[in-house]
Amino acid sequence: MSQTDTLADPLDIMGRLLTPEGKQNPYPLYEEMRAHGSLVDIGGAHLFATGYAECARALREPDLLSTDGAVQDGKMPGWREHASWRWLTKNMLFSNDPDHERLRRFFSGAFSARSVANWRPMVDRLAEDAVQHVAELGAGGRPVDLVPEFSFRFATAVIGELLGIPEKDQAGMRGIIGDITTALDPIGDLAELEPGDAAMEQLAEYFYELVAQRRTAPGPDLTSAFVRARDTGGELTEEDLVANLMLLLVAAAEAPQDLLSNMVRLALEHPEHADRLRANPRSAAGFVDETLRFEPAVQALNRVAARDMWYFGVRVAEGTPVTLIIGAGNRDPRRFSDPGVFDPERPDNQPLTFSAGAHYCLGAALARMSAETVVPQLLRRLPELTLAEPPTFRNQLVQRGHGRLPVRTA
Ligand code: HEM
Repeated sequence: MSQTDTLADPLDIMGRLLTPEGKQNPYPLYEEMRAHGSLVDIGGAHLFATGYAECARALREPDLLSTDGAVQDGKMPGWREHASWRWLTKNMLFSNDPDHERLRRFFSGAFSARSVANWRPMVDRLAEDAVQHVAELGAGGRPVDLVPEFSFRFATAVIGELLGIPEKDQAGMRGIIGDITTALDPIGDLAELEPGDAAMEQLAEYFYELVAQRRTAPGPDLTSAFVRARDTGGELTEEDLVANLMLLLVAAAEAPQDLLSNMVRLALEHPEHADRLRANPRSAAGFVDETLRFEPAVQALNRVAARDMWYFGVRVAEGTPVTLIIGAGNRDPRRFSDPGVFDPERPDNQPLTFSAGAHYCLGAALARMSAETVVPQLLRRLPELTLAEPPTFRNQLVQRGHGRLPVRTA
């Protein structure tokens, strides 16, 4: 019997990944998938990449398209009836050139390295406030769920302050933002988009109002600056503006929330690394990178072939979906030694978690700086932090982070 006869069918592995158990711990299933190769071709109908090099090159390949409206017509007929995807395909992440280039150009200057450096005092202040909030909630030994009270609260405070979203509106957005990200998971039935549709419509209404408000009474926030630039430049429609403001909020709340929760849990599981993080601020960068590699907040990215092409020796026909399992690529033993070991001092650690190429995360520098600031502060201020109960993971495949992370602070 050959080795492949003993391996589970790739479609069966994908099916198991989509079960609640698979979502709780996808990594053994990625290894089952990797056993079929670093590119797994499902009869020419779908290609999965499990290898680091394969994912990295795909992200830089202009002929592998992001899921824009035309791509979605081929993949998910009927999607135009759904507000979630109608709005998603208006943002830069789900666009291809020339729209992508036009949208990215409009928004990218605001997130330059210089802007991020200027935001440091603001991030420091919000980090202090986030840690103080946890300390107060946990006083007297009360358990605190760090997901809403620390990770979401801090991530939303940062992007909320940048975009000028009043603090009183921020906490109420958690359910809406969470529902929107469920639209990114693979679905069996279009009805599964309904929670995301309702959430997206609500958020769009919110941003239309915010934009109108900032047009009449501008402030020092980015929304006011974007409104001014749109009204004088004429490059963007009002819908483009609203769609991309929604992207900025959701992207900057969800993945950073998961990164922060994952970092804290890994610190609690590895007290020696947590001690180093407390003692030496310079060790924070390595800790962030290793968390992004070992427990990525984003596990998979989708592309579609724009033309017939050869890819690492595999023939890919125009229109074929290509799923880059970056959570598997980050554990590729050809790229990382002992990939299943959490080692924040790993040399040359370049996880795929912020993507690469044209869609490389616009908020990567901000996300890094924020995480490097707030998690060491939490650990220093609350040295007795322990898990109060086993944490749960959210029931999602693409976004990976904790559903609940209950801790005690003393
Ligand atoms: C841990 C934190 C974060 C992670 C893991 C993350 C991950 C990603 C990934 C994987 C992509 C590209 C997806 C693709 O190639 O298909 C992306 C794009 C993007 N991210 Fe992030 N992100 C994070 C934080 C942020 C923050 C804080 C912001 C906002 C300030 C942000 C804004 C964006 C935007 C606007 C795009 C679209 C870029 C484009 O299409 O050109 N992200 N992010």
